[in-house]
Amino acid sequence: MEKKIVLSGIRATGHLHLGNYYGALRNFVEMQQEYDCRYFIADYHSLTTQPEPELLNGNVRSILAEYLAAGLDPEKCMLYVQSDVPETCEIYTLLNMHAYLGELEKTVAFKEKARKQPNNVNAGLLTYPVLMAADILQHKAHFVPVGKDQLQHLEMARNFANRFNHYYGCQLLVPPYPYEAKGEPVKVPGLDGSGKMGKSEGNCIYLNDDDRTVEKKVKKAVTDMTPTEPCSPMSEPIANLFTLLRLVSDEATVTQFTDAWNDCSIRYGDLKREIAQGIIRVIAPMRERYESLYADTDYLNRVRRDGAERVRVEVRKTLDEMRHVMGIRFF
Ligand code: ADP
Ligand code: TRP
Repeated sequence: MEKKIVLSGIRATGHLHLGNYYGALRNFVEMQQEYDCRYFIADYHSLTTQPEPELLNGNVRSILAEYLAAGLDPEKCMLYVQSDVPETCEIYTLLNMHAYLGELEKTVAFKEKARKQPNNVNAGLLTYPVLMAADILQHKAHFVPVGKDQLQHLEMARNFANRFNHYYGCQLLVPPYPYEAKGEPVKVPGLDGSGKMGKSEGNCIYLNDDDRTVEKKVKKAVTDMTPTEPCSPMSEPIANLFTLLRLVSDEATVTQFTDAWNDCSIRYGDLKREIAQGIIRVIAPMRERYESLYADTDYLNRVRRDGAERVRVEVRKTLDEMRHVMGIRFF
């Protein structure tokens, strides 16, 4: 049986953190076996905030190196940079003709961005969901792993696909659905006591943080008073530390700290040291691979070029089919 196609994109806005790893990247590495995967870096989408050119270029480079360091294998998946595939822009143009101002203006992410950057409400921001739909529909992807904040964009991609098929009386585009990961979704908490780890929260451990930095950040994590009653309920900051512990330590260690919580003998210093060491065990090997990959310009360029070449063959086909049904063809 043919494998289902999975596509995922990430905006190039900085280094990846532990939340990105456990919530997305680690699954991407596993999914390479079971699905026909395409992973790309959405640098056009990053342009909506008009970043410094050198910064943007550096971010694309570091995410590519981080993806490779985490185990994405260009032999097993298609790994590429959005802007290396110019056909996407043409598909975006075609889709734009069936995307309506009213629905674009109503998008939650657009309204939020327009509020955050009132002096830069550009057309790219308005049509962000159309470009994202082009990214997805060009591959005829079945599934897209996305966080909650991207579900609306994915629904729009589905609408654009169905609308196109209906308008032109064809079954050309494939409506994409969210990829449902097996088991409970992982939410990596921040170190500041509440909420999730996120770049805009400023509470991240980055995959390229060195050991000292990890130790320092974890040491500063918010805690509260140690328990005085056996088996007390945990406050959010402590529950968050246990969530981190469960991610990076073995079962015996988790049991040991849970017992220490329950009999009030827990020492937060020990708990934090264990978490820091666990995080270091996970990220240090990746960081070492990352450093040599980041420095290897020839290899990174080769990955980009080869990735784009393979993707362009597939995408060209979708584009030609779309042009054909729309009447854009030689006589
Ligand atoms: P950020 O806003 O922190 O840069 P993004 O929202 O761009 O992160 O993250 C991209 C993907 O990484 C999301 O779709 C989600 O799957 C995953 N992710 C990010 N933060 C977390 C987290 N704290 N816990 C679990 N998954 C996360
Ligand atoms: N909008 C996505 C985000 O902010 C990034 C993205 C762009 C994307 N194109 C995509 C994600 C296509 C999945 C599929 O995270």
